[in-house]
Amino acid sequence: MNQDLFTGNLVRLTTLDIEQVSEAESRWSRDSEYWRLQAGETYRPYSVQATKKLYEKYVKEDDPTMFAFIIRTIDDDRMIGEVGLDGIHWNHGDCFVGIGIGEREFWGKGYGTDAMNVILRYAFTELNLWRVSLNVFEYNPRAIRSYEKAGFVHEGRVRAALNRAGRRWDIIYMGITCQEWQSLHS
Ligand SMILES: CC(C)(COP(=O)(O)OP(=O)(O)OC[C@H]1O[C@@H](n2cnc3c(N)ncnc32)[C@H](O)[C@@H]1OP(=O)(O)O)[C@@H](O)C(=O)NCCC(=O)NCCS
Repeated sequence: MNQDLFTGNLVRLTTLDIEQVSEAESRWSRDSEYWRLQAGETYRPYSVQATKKLYEKYVKEDDPTMFAFIIRTIDDDRMIGEVGLDGIHWNHGDCFVGIGIGEREFWGKGYGTDAMNVILRYAFTELNLWRVSLNVFEYNPRAIRSYEKAGFVHEGRVRAALNRAGRRWDIIYMGITCQEWQSLHS
């Protein structure tokens, strides 16, 4: 009860600063590898203005089914990525989570998994959700391993749903229930 809900071991989650996040997101969108790891849509970079519009819409609409945060390092408060819950069905206690560490030098060093642990704690101990789902592309083994470390279970796959780099790839569905999360953290 007494620990800061938004602080992990390596990162903390903060609110969206629209100016800062639009600049960073536009910069990250110029990294096609980063973008294609997380989005199925046709790749193209986004301008700061286009990104800003999306965030302004999000803040204005104040959608109760979405919670988006910036990921910052605890060490030097650097903004390295984003994580958010969306599509929350309050009646079912279900939602999706999405995560992206845009600063590539922070890949593979535990920052993403730590951020995932923080948002799962928020989902299960403050929002009182019952399960959290995600999907991940077959060609993203780093993300799959990170999600397994956070406690996500493989639940299924949509075969050959993506057409990229000259071949077809599966979309993998993973999920974690509140009980599973509690058994890992009790
Ligand atoms: C996915 C992401 C959030 C994971 O966070 P992270 O901080 O990089 O993850 P971690 O360092 O905690 O864990 C990565 C794990 O994958 C493993 N890994 C890395 N590359 C791998 C590969 N090619 N094959 C298999 N495992 C791999 C690492 O060894 C590590 O596992 P370990 O701790 O058991 O050794 C982050 O890498 C990221 O944002 N990447 C770019 C965007 C993206 O992929 N978003 C997710 C879309 S679904």
